[in-house]
Amino acid sequence: MQRIGILTGGGDCPGLNPVLRAVVKRSAVEGWQVLGFRNGWKGVIDDEFIILDHQSVSGILPKGGTILGTSRTNPYKKPGDLEKVKSNIAKHELKALITVGGEDTLGAANKLAQEGLKIVGVPKTIDNDLNATDYTFGYDTALNIAMECIDRLHTTAESHNRVMVVEIMGRHAGWIALEAGLAGGADVILIPEVEIDLDKVCELIKKRHARGRTFSIVAVAEGAKLKDKEVTMDQKLDAFGHIRLGGIGQTISEMIEQKTGYETRVTVLGHIQRGGSPTAFDRILGTRFGVQAIELVKQERYGFMVSLQGRNIVAVPLQEAVGSLKTVPLDYYQMAQVFFG
Ligand code: F6P
Repeated sequence: MQRIGILTGGGDCPGLNPVLRAVVKRSAVEGWQVLGFRNGWKGVIDDEFIILDHQSVSGILPKGGTILGTSRTNPYKKPGDLEKVKSNIAKHELKALITVGGEDTLGAANKLAQEGLKIVGVPKTIDNDLNATDYTFGYDTALNIAMECIDRLHTTAESHNRVMVVEIMGRHAGWIALEAGLAGGADVILIPEVEIDLDKVCELIKKRHARGRTFSIVAVAEGAKLKDKEVTMDQKLDAFGHIRLGGIGQTISEMIEQKTGYETRVTVLGHIQRGGSPTAFDRILGTRFGVQAIELVKQERYGFMVSLQGRNIVAVPLQEAVGSLKTVPLDYYQMAQVFFG
């Protein structure tokens, strides 16, 4: 029996389980067995896996997270790990390894593919910042959660005549903050792509209050930056060199209160945005990606990644997806500014 491997790496996101289910069901049509490696690249290094069959993927479609577990393990970081990855793939005689991940996981996948390993990529991230695909699954779910939170913040903000700052995920790209802010009617949106001008923010809020409104909502992406001041949770780096973000909401909320005199509160949405059941969009996108990943294995198109372009699922070289991020275009942010203040 032919065998393929699959792993889910990086931050979890709603839609991973639909991918696993689709990969197992489509592989069954070919008569292939699926080895699910535990906790991202860590499972391939440590040779920790489970056999995924019809029973193991039964009922997982609406479930958030990943039944395989995940980690931010980088196989290129620790001496000896890369050799373990290669020898374990060889030991199981894998026809291919499907790697489901974002920029970091797929970056490692791309390097391995360039070394001749039979790798197929599936893009995922709630941040929607991967190049070469219109959308990643997980994003739509996170966006809807963030929008609903902004809706909820409106009523309490209005009742108390407060400024509410809401910190939204997005390390390098402000997609969730921008689109949840637009959909939820935030009065100011701050994203990593555009440096924060705090005086301008306070001016917008004051202008709005001068018009008779007594509350405001400020949506800020966790990666948004103040001039000359990087706000981080601590100085620790993960295996891919990323610092832990967080704290920008609190920082600007104190500054806004001080500069405007309006009572201000902060809400950090954090991992609420990554948890729970995927939306229909994310379930379907994950399902279509999983099926297409097996088509690519069948066609032996290794070093490729499945991607959504328009309404179509296509294949793009992994190389096109990694290396740089898909950030929010300036003209889109400028359009959103129509609704500020
Ligand atoms: O990459 C997705 C993401 O959710 C980012 O938006 C966020 O900065 C990061 O993961 C948080 O990671 P962790 O799960 O390690 O706290």
